[in-house]
Amino acid sequence: MISGYAFPAGFVWGVATAAYQIEGAAREEGRGESIWDRFCRRPGAVERGDTGDIACDHYHRWRSDLDLIKKLGATSYRFSIAWPRVFPDGKGAANPRGVDFYRRLVEGLRERGIAPMATLYHWDLPQKLEDKGGWRSRETADRFAEFARAMYRALGDGVAYWATHNEPWCAAFLGHWHGLHAPGERDLKTALVVAHHLLYSHGLALKAHRASGVKGQIGIVLNLAPNEPASATEADRVAARASDGHANRWFLDPVFHGRYPEDVVHEYERLVGPLDFIKDGDLAVASQPIDFLGVNYYSPRIVRAAPQLPLGWELARSDTGPEIAGAGWEVMPDGLTRLLIRLRDDYGSPRMYVTENGCGYEEGRSADGNVHDERRITYLRAHLAAASQAIAKGVDLRGYYLWSLLDNFEWAFGYRIRFGIVYVDFATQRRLPKDSFAFYARVIEQNGIEAPAPG
Ligand code: FCB
Repeated sequence: MISGYAFPAGFVWGVATAAYQIEGAAREEGRGESIWDRFCRRPGAVERGDTGDIACDHYHRWRSDLDLIKKLGATSYRFSIAWPRVFPDGKGAANPRGVDFYRRLVEGLRERGIAPMATLYHWDLPQKLEDKGGWRSRETADRFAEFARAMYRALGDGVAYWATHNEPWCAAFLGHWHGLHAPGERDLKTALVVAHHLLYSHGLALKAHRASGVKGQIGIVLNLAPNEPASATEADRVAARASDGHANRWFLDPVFHGRYPEDVVHEYERLVGPLDFIKDGDLAVASQPIDFLGVNYYSPRIVRAAPQLPLGWELARSDTGPEIAGAGWEVMPDGLTRLLIRLRDDYGSPRMYVTENGCGYEEGRSADGNVHDERRITYLRAHLAAASQAIAKGVDLRGYYLWSLLDNFEWAFGYRIRFGIVYVDFATQRRLPKDSFAFYARVIEQNGIEAPAPG
């Protein structure tokens, strides 16, 4: 027994990645174009014009990457399946080489005793479907269900956990309202349509999973955060509640309660008119029971009133304390404890996994050739302690996946911001475990965190 924080027996320890961020091989073996391939080519969309064309070349190096996971001691690995690798045109005939890649990956994990968690959609929509309206079109939800069905068939019981979507808030709002992610649109009504079709398609994929009879559990991964008023004023308190509705409840309520939150519906209708894209029965589809909720947590949302803006609030920073990624992502470990407790209280004590948590910085190698990422270790230690405190308070948290195994293509930041516990030298593709890799390996081995040395 360690002194510090112990986790329950059987707690799942994982690392997470996503296809577009690591695979590369963008034009190999029949892979079709995705909206991220296209978006990266838009001038100014991604820092320095970086693309995922090569990324970590994981498509060719997956065996040694799985060996690294094995060396770490992780018991599960969360990856995503590139839809355009499997269906280059988004529909029609599957590309057998694409399917085989994931089959081999799942087998490779099984051989190493690592339980696969497969995310079906981590933002790389086939461009061919985007050309037909993308997620603005209901038909894309049907195509998604077909893709899901094909993957259940191909990978079967090999996959221990399926996640339908990763962070639909980002796909909808960063992609279609803020214009910061693919496909780079800026229209609130469109973002709402997209969010709805993502939720609806989650339900269709869930239904297909139950019908397929495959054994793995299935859930959805949401980016969630506590919303903290920037000050004690009533205006900021109201702002924080509204922001919670926009970012958290807009996805949680449909999935768990089969309805959109009324206060937020009211706001959106004021701004864009009737939400006529919500058809009878859609929310019954979206709210079928899931086996687990995946929680991605990095940072809280600090909110202040901003009456001049469409939604009446904006994000702020509460202090000048540590931040992730040099982009104003504030570090607040106890936010994770509070978030998990709130999810337990408001959504019927769901079984949960932290499906992403971690931090990114501009990082390099020290004179001795290694990466001494003390900041990351501090961040991880504090967040793991926060997770353990939630468990002690009765939250049904079954596992934790660290983001990320490798430094990778960090979306609009390109390769500048590194989230890995393994450093990647992108010129040579050499992998170099950072100090945090050894730290996390020890956590896994001990099934807990040692108390820091006194003093
Ligand atoms: C999340 C994404 C993931 C990664 C981390 C840093 O929003 O799911 O792909 O980029 O942020």
